[in-house]
Amino acid sequence: MLKVGILTGGGDCPGLNPVIRAVVRKGINEGYQVIGIKNGWKGLIENNTIELNLNAVSGILPKGGTILGTSRTNPFKKEGDLEKVKKSYKELGLEALIAIGGEDTLGVASKLIKEGLENIVGVPKTIDNDLSSTDYTFGFDTAINTAMECIDKLHTTAESHHRIIVVEVMGRHAGWIAVEAGIAGGADIILIPEETIDIEKVCELLKKRHDRGKTFSIVVVAEGAKFKKGTMVLQEEKLDQFGHVRLGGIGDNLAKEIEKRTGYETRVSVLGHIQRGGSPSAFDRILGTRFGVKAIELVKNKKFGRMAALSGNKITDVPIENAIKELKTVDKDFYEMAKVFFG
Ligand code: F6P
Repeated sequence: MLKVGILTGGGDCPGLNPVIRAVVRKGINEGYQVIGIKNGWKGLIENNTIELNLNAVSGILPKGGTILGTSRTNPFKKEGDLEKVKKSYKELGLEALIAIGGEDTLGVASKLIKEGLENIVGVPKTIDNDLSSTDYTFGFDTAINTAMECIDKLHTTAESHHRIIVVEVMGRHAGWIAVEAGIAGGADIILIPEETIDIEKVCELLKKRHDRGKTFSIVVVAEGAKFKKGTMVLQEEKLDQFGHVRLGGIGDNLAKEIEKRTGYETRVSVLGHIQRGGSPSAFDRILGTRFGVKAIELVKNKKFGRMAALSGNKITDVPIENAIKELKTVDKDFYEMAKVFFG
């Protein structure tokens, strides 16, 4: 029986388990044995695996996170790890490997292909929705619904106390979560990394809104947003194995600045990892399921080096390289549309 490996790498997100389930169901139907690799690329370094049969994936569809575990381990970082990955791949006797991840995990997949581990296919995942070549990644829909519900809740307390509430959301260097959750939640201002924050303009908008009788406001800010002339706010200076900084804290700075300049009482709420947790939405369960089935089709048809992708309403496949070439950021037109509702 041919063996197919599957791993989940990088930040977890809702929808990973539906992909795993779909890979196992479709894989078994096609006559493959599916091997789950634990904790992303770390599992290949350590040869840490479990066999995934029908029972192993039964009941996981509505579960958030990943039954395989994940890590931000980069096998190109530490000397000797790449050799360990190659050794495990060989020892496991894998016919192919399905790598589910964002830019980092798929970046490693792309490098491994160049290193001779050619039989890899990709599945795009991230709550940030910042991968090119796919209209959506699963995880994003659940994340924006969670953020929207939080914004709805913050509205009621902001209104009762006549306060401004700054809501900091995730998304790294792309403002998708902020802009979509902000639109859906009726935020009064949305600030994203794609456009530097003009604090004077923000306060002007808030004052105008309050001048027309509103006594509260909701400001959504993406964790990667920056002030004019300023830099991003970092939670810590340390870089992860892929060279990423840890963002977080812009909400606090913004709230202080708003209160100082307008005199309106301001609070901040940082949504953080809540956005990555919980049961996947119907959209993410379906998208994850479609991607999982597609991944096995790619393996079956030996379309290696390709990634499942969503184009309109169709599942297609694209070179993994295209997806990681550049970040997909919020386009200007969409942000301009969101601005209609500012103030
Ligand atoms: O990429 C997903 C994401 O949740 C980003 O939005 C966020 O900046 C980062 O991961 C947080 O990473 P960690 O879970 O390692 O703190």
